[in-house]
This record gives sequence, C-alpha cells and structure tokens, in this order.
Amino acid sequence: MRVLLSLCASLVLLWSTVQCRPSHDHSHHGNNNVSISANGSLKIYQENLDFAFRLYKHISAQTDYQSKNVFFSPLSVSVALAALSVGARGKTHQQLFEGLGFNSTEITTEEVNQAFQHIHHNLNEKTDVDLSLGNALFIGQEFKPRPEFLESMKRYYESEGFSTDFSKPEEAKEQINKYVNEKTKGKISELVQDVDPLTVMYIINYIYFKGKWQIPFDPKATKEHDFHVDDKTTVSVPMMYEEDYFHVYQDEDISILQLHKWIRSVAMMNYQVYVPKLSLKTSYELKEILPEMGITDIFGDTADLTGISEERKLAVSKVMHKATIDMDEAGATAAAATGIGGGGSSAGFPAPTPVLKFDRPFMVFVLNGDTRSIMFMGKIVNPAK
Ligand SMILES: *[C@@H]1O[C@H](CO)[C@@H](O)[C@H](O)[C@H]1NC(C)=O
Ligand SMILES: *[C@@H]1O[C@H](CO)[C@@H](O)[C@H](O)[C@H]1NC(C)=O
Ligand SMILES: *[C@@H]1O[C@H](CO)[C@@H](O)[C@H](O)[C@H]1NC(C)=O
Repeated sequence: MRVLLSLCASLVLLWSTVQCRPSHDHSHHGNNNVSISANGSLKIYQENLDFAFRLYKHISAQTDYQSKNVFFSPLSVSVALAALSVGARGKTHQQLFEGLGFNSTEITTEEVNQAFQHIHHNLNEKTDVDLSLGNALFIGQEFKPRPEFLESMKRYYESEGFSTDFSKPEEAKEQINKYVNEKTKGKISELVQDVDPLTVMYIINYIYFKGKWQIPFDPKATKEHDFHVDDKTTVSVPMMYEEDYFHVYQDEDISILQLHKWIRSVAMMNYQVYVPKLSLKTSYELKEILPEMGITDIFGDTADLTGISEERKLAVSKVMHKATIDMDEAGATAAAATGIGGGGSSAGFPAPTPVLKFDRPFMVFVLNGDTRSIMFMGKIVNPAK
C-alpha cells in the first residue's frame, strides 16, 4: 500500500593486467562536516535536467525498449558517472564531464563535486520522507586505489568502502547484492548477476524513495478499467480513483523545456482523478547507450582512470542500472505528476467535476524540489506489463 522506488546504478571496473599486491585495509575517513543545504546543487540542476532528457531519449530510442515502459533514475546515473569522473583524467575525464553536460569554462570539477555533495546531504537529511541516496565502493582485496580518490568519494559522494574478494565470484556477488538489497529495502535484490573474477572494483550508486500521496486513494474505489496502450491495444488495469483538489496544470505544448514552467504553474483544482496501480521493474545496461552520448573512452584501452590507481590499466566493463516503481493507493511521490487531460471548469454554474484519467501512455516524474533534481522519470506505456 505505498509507492516504493528504488534503483541502482553500478559501474564495474576491470583490470587488464593482473598484478598482485598485498591486501590492505580499505577503511578511510573524510571530513563530512559541510553545511547541509541544497545551495551548491542549484549550480548544476540545468545540466542534470538536460542530461536526464538526453538519457531518456537514448534509452527510449533503443529498439529493444521501444513501445515498452521506461523507468530509471537520471540522478543515480549522473551521480555514478560523476563519481567515476573523480578518478578519470585527460580526455576520459573531459568526455565524462561534457557527457554529463558540464562546460569546463563555466564550472570546475570541484564545483561539480560540491554540488553533488549538496544533493546527497539534502536528500539524506529529509526526515518527512523515506529517501536515501548513496554510493559504495567494493574494492578488490589486492587492488590499491589512490587515497585521494577514496577521500573524494567519501567526502563528496558519501561513499562507503568495502573490501571484496573477487577471486571468489559467488561470495563477491552475494556481498554486493546483500548491500544493495538492504539499501533499497528489498526492492533490488539481484543487482549483480555474475561477477568477473578479474574485477577490481564496483562503484555502486543507489537511490531509494518511499512516499505517501498527499491525498491517499481509497482502496475500495479501485476498479478494473481499460488502458489504451495504442490504437489497437487495450488492456485492463486496476485503476485508483479519487475526487479531490489536486495540483493540476494543463498545457498543449509538451516540449521538454517546459518542466519547470509546469511545476511553477500548477494550481489546486477539483478533479476526478484515475491513476493505474503500478509495479514495474526495469534493468538497463548503459554500456551501449553512453557511447551514443559521447562517453566512449571509459570502456576501452583508451580509458584513463589513473586518478583511481596509477598501477593498473583500468577500464569500465559494465554500467548497470536497475529501477523499480510500485505505486498504489497509499503511496505517493513527494512531487505531483503533471498530467494532461480533462476539461476546464466554467465559472458561475456548478459544472461536473472534470476528469483526469491516466488511461493512455503517460510520463511520470519524481522531483526533488530543493535541488531541482529528477530523482526518477519514466514513460508508462503499459501498466499491465
Ligand atoms: C564541524 O562543524 C562544527 C560546527 O560548524 C564545528 O564546530 C566543528 O569544528 C567542525 N568539525 C570539523 C572536523 O571540521
Ligand atoms: C545560499 O547561497 C547564498 C549565496 O552564496 C547565501 O547567501 C545563502 O545564505 C545560502 N543559503 C543557504 C541555505 O545556505
Ligand atoms: C562553454 O562555455 C563557453 C562560455 O560560456 C562558451 O563560449 C562555449 O561555447 C561553451 N562550450 C560548449 C561546448 O557549449
């Protein structure tokens, strides 16, 4: 009876030359004593927004995913890549930085890191909603990352560090999956399917959000309704129903740049609202998508990740992203889903309450207002899938 959103992005690093080193303690300490505010994060919100929509376009364009539901956390992917960029140098760094939408003549690496630090603090300080964002490094026992890298990961990305024996793939897999399962409160139990014994490090980002609708739906009002997937396909879905005052804004123009206008423009209006109950799980391997966005070098021999470790030739082997959404009568997002539909009410006479029925493909956004981040976004084509 609640909305559960959770997600993980992970980057898998492989080394290409095996070199044994004595294992060591990976614990590290950073000064996390920064003022808790969303301030710095506003420096990058426009870039993060643009990145979110570019990523959405590329994910939706993948033939595999065409006419399928799309659901992911742009914020999680941004954070995972930004965290990786801490260890990237040269052209590899430039590609990540620009791929994330940053222009080095306008913003420095330090400012970007600080902005992400603010986002972590802002999201994690919230007590009124169940929300957490964090990162973890699973570091091979014989791999020795630079202390500065670990320090920055801890300081800016609230990253925890763990020592992992990748020569025992089953145990390593279990260790990582157990961690992610705990952080996402059981929503993502199998982030990693198989572990390559040559892995030196996993960078994991997770985001978990559970909210309540401002106005919960009455479970007794939930009935089967038709949902029009396309002109030819209709499916039956459990549709939640409520008549009340909702934040609504109607717009004919649905270009992406309007998102903030919509948020600013919503007004409380009485509506009959129908929303499908949903439970979705998605999984994306971003290794095919990121190169389309200009991020290529991290995957090959060209990768320069000497900021992580100078000893070895490192490259990223996988960028996995999993997300889930459960939407039911009690659950809700902190942000309103802005929709289109219904009719206007006429002044003067009691008019029938307009209807807002999400019975055809629609988009969903979960936004964090303070940092103006898109925590989750998606396109629900078929809620019955
Ligand atoms: C942390 O912040 C508090 C309050 O601003 C300050 O008194 C304290 O010295 C700081 N600690 C460190 C380690 O910077
Ligand atoms: C945000 O930054 C501005 C200018 O740098 C500053 O005046 C303001 O106090 C900051 N707000 C918070 C909540 O830290
Ligand atoms: C970066 O910013 C500078 C200064 O604002 C601008 O002249 C340049 O065109 C920008 N570069 C890109 C790739 O957008």
